[in-house]
Amino acid sequence: MTAPPATRAAPFSATYRCGEGCDFTAPLTDVIYRCPRCQGLLEVEHDLAALRTRSATEWKALFDGRFRLGPWPYGSGVWGKKEWISPQLADANVVSMFEGGSPLLRVDRYARELGLDDVWVKECGVTHTGSFKDLGMTVLVSAVQEMRSRGRPIRAVACASTGDTSAALSAYCAAAGVPSVVLLPRGKISTAQLVQPIANGALVLELDTDFDGCMKVVQALSETPDIYLANSMNSLRIEGQKTASIEISQQLGWTVPDWVVIPGGNLGNASAVGKGFTMMKALGLIDRLPRLLVAQAEHANPLYQATTGAGLRAVPGVAVKPMTARRTLASAIQIGDPVSAGRALRSLQALDGLVEQASEQELADAAARADRAGLFTCPHTGVALAALEKLAGRGQIKKGERVVVISTAHGLKFSDFKVGYHDGTLPGLRSPLRNPAVRVEASLGAVQDAIAARHGRAARG
Ligand SMILES: Cc1ncc(COP(=O)(O)O)c(C=O)c1O
Ligand SMILES: [Zn+2]
Repeated sequence: MTAPPATRAAPFSATYRCGEGCDFTAPLTDVIYRCPRCQGLLEVEHDLAALRTRSATEWKALFDGRFRLGPWPYGSGVWGKKEWISPQLADANVVSMFEGGSPLLRVDRYARELGLDDVWVKECGVTHTGSFKDLGMTVLVSAVQEMRSRGRPIRAVACASTGDTSAALSAYCAAAGVPSVVLLPRGKISTAQLVQPIANGALVLELDTDFDGCMKVVQALSETPDIYLANSMNSLRIEGQKTASIEISQQLGWTVPDWVVIPGGNLGNASAVGKGFTMMKALGLIDRLPRLLVAQAEHANPLYQATTGAGLRAVPGVAVKPMTARRTLASAIQIGDPVSAGRALRSLQALDGLVEQASEQELADAAARADRAGLFTCPHTGVALAALEKLAGRGQIKKGERVVVISTAHGLKFSDFKVGYHDGTLPGLRSPLRNPAVRVEASLGAVQDAIAARHGRAARG
């Protein structure tokens, strides 16, 4: 019998590097989140020279061949791009729920209302736990499996959350058999979000504080290396989340939209989207970058306040000052002290970005307007749509330009918001697009009258 061919060492590699520009590096299997020299957040840095040994055409063919097909785990939208995400991770340690590969919808009726003609929605909420957080969490929990397989004594994985991170963490940990602990601001997340980690068996801790307060506690908690931190300051999550931008290009036939619009809270996702596009450009898969529009709720708008809507290129040396976020319907982005502000600013600068804000009324109406065109949007997507509506109204985004709005969660997680809007019971808000259920008597005549009241009488024939 002939000997099996010698296995080639993985040609691709990635390491942590300090994101603030000093030369600190560490392996991705280290339990580390910040640079020990300057306290900057770490970035995952890929060996681009090695990745360049394959041409852009070869990468596209490889990614297209795997997309939603496999073999396992390569049918996942994240792991189908494994060489660009976490190349050294053993396939056996991947914890995947077939995340990514979410629909990219063209929303013509909605676009027409805005005077635009090429608007798309990337439905990142159409996924296992109902939000884009699955994209990053599969990478993080897989890394935990790899660390544990090498004997690292990780007792539990912990996060602070405005709801969606805890849902993703608890599901992936439950699938892997890893204990999870979630810290939630009591009374500030939706019922559907709260029940997700409960159902998945996480230790769910409700704290009498806001998200920023939970974040401080979890950072202190994870100073002991046996509690691994799952918040997006952990750059492994950013690696998975950046696949949303790669998929957008892929689903558009490897072309680039003119604008990408995204809601921002802790600002990890805005950073990730920037990273995905810049990596594709560096490796020749695309020839230009889109412009980035980050949308914040007016009640939690530290990034907007730092820029007041001016182009990021026009505002050098922006500093994001922490604020106390006020209650917003967009509860998952009720964040006043965004951990990834520095990274997001770098993405905004690279992608000639802008920041816009949305009031409670604007976000609620934008969500309702998009729903009338067939979507079912979460309030955070409402923030992004409201920002798009403002820029379209001012002529900053024009007819003929292609816009992709990133929808970050499934609307079904926020049914209280929807019901409140259509019942007209959201405190302090009007509901101009409300469509309440009509209670009618159980008779043919009553039903016909109700139809006639809405759509007119049938012609007699
Ligand atoms: C539904 C939803 N949209 C938007 C965001 C904002 O993402 P980021 O915190 O990365 O800015 C989050 C999470 O914080 C979220 O859960
Ligand atoms: Zn450093």
